[in-house]
Amino acid sequence: MESNKIFAALLLAGIIAMLSGFTAKKMVTIHMPEEPSYVIEVAETTDAAGGEVAEEIDILSMIAVGDVAKGEKLSKACAACHSFEKGGPNRVGPNLWDIVNAKHAHLSDFPYSEVFVGMKDKTWTYENISDFLAKPKQYAPGTKMSYIGMKKPEDRANIIAWLRTLSDSPAALPEAKAAPAEGATDAPAAAE
Ligand code: HEC
Repeated sequence: MESNKIFAALLLAGIIAMLSGFTAKKMVTIHMPEEPSYVIEVAETTDAAGGEVAEEIDILSMIAVGDVAKGEKLSKACAACHSFEKGGPNRVGPNLWDIVNAKHAHLSDFPYSEVFVGMKDKTWTYENISDFLAKPKQYAPGTKMSYIGMKKPEDRANIIAWLRTLSDSPAALPEAKAAPAEGATDAPAAAE
């Protein structure tokens, strides 16, 4: 029958259209270079598999330029358990006035965990406060501080910069190693 032929022709046309569409797609496939031609350098804190690698952060320099106001805001995460003002009460955790350069388990009227009591001769430095805040349970296995940890080095630097100010005589700020020496930048050329 005539209609069969028409149907067959339409079917063939459809197949051809499909095939040519397919090859057209193939032809426009753009081959991307395997490596990006530019590289953005970022400090990596995790490896490709998402695992932890040794952090190569310069926390001291970050604290030196830390944002005290941001640090104070971040302390809301601690305020349920800690008071910060001078002579403030112990809560679930000890009062934290003047903690930088204090000893571990620095208050005699707070019931610290065994692991903290065992560290009571150790001084709280900028670095070990940062390590503790990053992963309390890793720094002090068995600690009573049930706080998950502050992941971002920047956050830790800011809150430590703020903690430092909570003292009658704040500890000296660390030197910012990366900061350019004063007067190192060229003065703008004077016009005439
Ligand atoms: C869920 C309650 C809780 C939260 C939240 C918490 N802490 Fe603690 N923190 C504690 C407890 C409890 C201890 C005592 C730890 C021990 O004895 O093992 C402690 C101890 C500390 C110490 C050591 C004090 C000393 O005398 O040696 C510092 C420093 C500290 N916390 C800082 C912080 C900061 C900063 C935050 C917020 C980012 C925070 N904590 C959040 C409960 C908490």
